[in-house]
Amino acid sequence: MSITDKFGRPLQDLRISVTDRCNFRCTYCMPKEIFGKDYPFLPKSQLLSFEEIERIAKSFVNLGVKKIRLTGGEPLLRRDLPDLISRLSAIEGLKDIGLTTNATLLEKMAEKLKEAGLKRINVSLDALDNPLFQSINDSGVSTERVLKGIEQAVQVGLEVKVNMVVKKGMNEHEIVPMAKYFKDKGITLRYIEFMDVGKTNGWDFSKVVTKKEIYEQLSQHFEMEPVDPGYIGEVAKRYRYVGTNTEVGFITSVSESFCSTCTRARIAADGKLYTCLFANKGFDFREFLRSGVTDVELADQISAIWSKRIDRYSDERTEESARNKDRIEMSYIGG
Ligand code: GTP
Ligand code: 5AD
Ligand code: SF4
Ligand code: SF4
Repeated sequence: MSITDKFGRPLQDLRISVTDRCNFRCTYCMPKEIFGKDYPFLPKSQLLSFEEIERIAKSFVNLGVKKIRLTGGEPLLRRDLPDLISRLSAIEGLKDIGLTTNATLLEKMAEKLKEAGLKRINVSLDALDNPLFQSINDSGVSTERVLKGIEQAVQVGLEVKVNMVVKKGMNEHEIVPMAKYFKDKGITLRYIEFMDVGKTNGWDFSKVVTKKEIYEQLSQHFEMEPVDPGYIGEVAKRYRYVGTNTEVGFITSVSESFCSTCTRARIAADGKLYTCLFANKGFDFREFLRSGVTDVELADQISAIWSKRIDRYSDERTEESARNKDRIEMSYIGG
C-alpha cells in the first residue's frame, strides 16, 4: 500500500524525534541565549511513550513507509533508546532504521544500539579543530570524544556517515581538512548548506556556503565523480573520490532544492506530525492516540493528512519567506 500527496509524492520515510533536549548548544541550532537554564523543554508526560511511537510507526509502515530515522534534539539522551530500536526492528515491512546523533554518548552506547538492530548512524560534526568545534557546540565537548564515538560505532559494525553544516564565517576553512580526514577513514562526509529552520538561528542568504562553492574547494584537492542516487528522493547529492569506494555528499536545500521528490513525514517529540521541515502547524497524534482511537482511525487520519499535502518550502524560498519566523525549531522536529 502506498499513498501519495497532492503532487504525487509517496509517503516513504518517517523521521521521529524522541526528545527535544540536547547536550550541545550549537550556535546555529540551540543558541544558549534562547535555550538557557529556564527553557521550557517538554516534560516526560508530553513525550510519546515507546508504545505510542511503536504504534504510530506500525501504522506508517502499513501505509508504505520503508525507512525510519530517529532524531532529537539528541536521541541518545532518551532513556532506554535501544529498547525502542528493538521494537522498531521487529516491524514487518520496515527496510531501514537510522539514527542522527552528535555522538557524545556513542562510545558507550554503540554496541547496545547495534545489538538492538540498528544498522546505521549519521553523526553531526562541524569541525576537526577542537577550539573551533567547542565554540560551535558551546558545551565544552571535544572533537576527540566525537571521533572516539565514531571509531566505536565502526568497530561494532554500524555504517557511519558524518554530517557537517557549513556556515559562512564559521567553518569554511574546515571543508578540506574534514574531507581529507574522513576520506582516509573511508567514511562518507556530507556537507549541509546552512538552512533557515526555526526562528532563533539568525539565518540569511549571505551565511550560506553553497554546494558549488564547497565543490570548487574540494576539486582543487580531489578528483570526484557523481554517483547515482540510491533511490528516488535521496536527500544528498552523491560523489565518489575517483579510484576509491569512499563517497562525499552535499545536502543542497538552499541552492538546489529537492522538494519535488520529498517523501518525508516528521513526528516531533510531543507526537505532532509535520509534513515539512519548515512547517508551523502539526497534527497532534499524541492526543489522538490517547483519546482511544482504533488502528483504522489512526491510518485514516495519516492518509487524510498526507493526501492533502502541498509543502514545497525550499522550492519557493525567498528572502521574505526566510524572514518569516513562524516556524518550528530544528531541535524539536529533528532536522
Ligand atoms: P540518510 O538516510 O543517511 O541519507 O539520511 P538523511 O540525510 O535523510 O538524514 P540526516 O538526519 O543525516 O539529515 C541530513 C541533513 O539533511 C539535515 O540537515 C536534515 O535537516 C536535512 N534534511 C533531511 N531531510 C530533509 C528534507 O526533507 N528537507 C530539507 N530541507 N532538509 C532535509
Ligand atoms: N541548517 C542545516 N543543518 C542543520 N542542522 C541543524 N541545524 C541546521 C541548520 N540550520 C543539522 C545538524 C544535524 C542534522 C540533523 O541537521 O547538524 O547534522
Ligand atoms: Fe547541535 Fe544537533 Fe544538538 Fe542542534 S540538535 S544543538 S545541531 S547537536
Ligand atoms: Fe520536503 Fe519541506 Fe524539505 Fe521541501 S522543504 S524537501 S517539502 S521537508
